[in-house]
Amino acid sequence: MEQTLVLIKPDGAKRKLTGLVIDRLDGAGLRLVAAKVVSVSEELARRHYRMLKDKPFFENLIQYIRGKFHEIPDSQILALVYEGEGAIARVRQAAGATNPEEAAPGTIRGSFGRVTTKGQFENVVHASGNAEDAEFEVKLWFTPAEVLHPIYPVTRGNGTKAEAAAWS
Ligand code: TYD
Repeated sequence: MEQTLVLIKPDGAKRKLTGLVIDRLDGAGLRLVAAKVVSVSEELARRHYRMLKDKPFFENLIQYIRGKFHEIPDSQILALVYEGEGAIARVRQAAGATNPEEAAPGTIRGSFGRVTTKGQFENVVHASGNAEDAEFEVKLWFTPAEVLHPIYPVTRGNGTKAEAAAWS
């Protein structure tokens, strides 16, 4: 059994795709075990994308996830945790490839993503990439009390001291 983080990115919210994404993941047989509207701070955005900090698109990515390109008030975003057998791969499959131009038709990103003229991928959703990232990200965005039967070990903290304390 796995749990994985999904974010409806600001382009998805702006283009009213929230219901569609939830519908697709419902259709994939996954169970929603946590949901929360989050105001994405600079710190949270940087921690979430820590592995990409040396990439040329990193600063734009931070602005994008904080809603700065889509006039999202309070940098608000919908964060979700889905659970199921093979949930990480199944959500990634429903999402499609990172680059919307390469994402298969019928996937969320293949149907609704775009690459802007400035080269930014606007790909509608975030989905954890692997088991290690899923654990880190669920712990970063949620406290144990916010997740129905949290499955990740509660002794290993990630993120800020407060987040680590919540999971310890
Ligand atoms: P990454 O973690 O590589 O992909 P994924 O979201 O599929 O796990 O990249 C994070 C985000 O960075 C990606 O969703 C969109 C953005 N991005 C770009 O804007 N340009 C790029 O060339 C890449 C690789 C990613």
